[in-house]
Amino acid sequence: MRKQPGYRAMSKRRKPGRAWLARHIDDPYVKRARAHGYRSRAAFKLIEIDARDRLIRPGMAVVDLGSAPGAWSQVLRERLARPGGAGIDGRIVALDLLPMEPIADVTFLQGDLRDEATLRQLAATVGGPTLDLVVSDMAPNLSGVAAADAARMIDLVELAVAFALAHLKPDGALLVKCFHGSGYSQLVELFGHSFVRLAVRKPKASRAGSAETYLLGRSPKATAVPAGAAMQGGAGLDAS
Ligand SMILES: C[S@@+](CC[C@H](N)C(=O)[O-])C[C@H]1O[C@@H](n2cnc3c(N)ncnc32)[C@H](O)[C@@H]1O
Repeated sequence: MRKQPGYRAMSKRRKPGRAWLARHIDDPYVKRARAHGYRSRAAFKLIEIDARDRLIRPGMAVVDLGSAPGAWSQVLRERLARPGGAGIDGRIVALDLLPMEPIADVTFLQGDLRDEATLRQLAATVGGPTLDLVVSDMAPNLSGVAAADAARMIDLVELAVAFALAHLKPDGALLVKCFHGSGYSQLVELFGHSFVRLAVRKPKASRAGSAETYLLGRSPKATAVPAGAAMQGGAGLDAS
């Protein structure tokens, strides 16, 4: 029963220890997040990856999986904002198990991506291959048992890949959080089968001791088959 480095069991939500609190208070990304009004320091992970990979552009249709508390959706909204506060140029759909405080111009669905009903609802909102970008910062509730936690993470990444393959445009991209541990090479292989281009990103805002890593796939391969017919269909999510 070995714990993965950087894994913090979230299912048993104990009070954070003194060391964690001290690190959190001193964390420059936490301070910057507060100063910018972002809901979490996670915002800077997406900002950093976007600065390098130029993922988010006005006019895009984007889905944010595992969106709560909402920092990535805030960043997406900023990037798609029309000048003068006139809404956004594009569309953002966000999904999480947990509730999320509303963000202007972001359509939020609450549900578990592993549930058929949620998948159908998301598919109906998004429609066919209309998306330019899918981002997933989903992380499972961790038990601390490495093999079980790795399996849960793999499950979430596979679901994000299947969803993305069903809904991305031919030049679309998928950015997914995973953990560099057991099952990691399996996920890299999955991305290799699914996308024409693959990159691995570890933003500075991602804590150095954490196993967290991001996989970026661009241009779904025509030969990659999305799993699950429930992911298809519904009305189109139009960026215009
Ligand atoms: C690290 S947080 C995401 C932080 C978010 N990117 C932000 O910037 O605020 C991971 C989220 O994934 C969500 N999540 C985990 N499993 C999920 C699932 N099966 N379906 C939907 N959301 C899930 C959790 O509820 C949690 O809010």
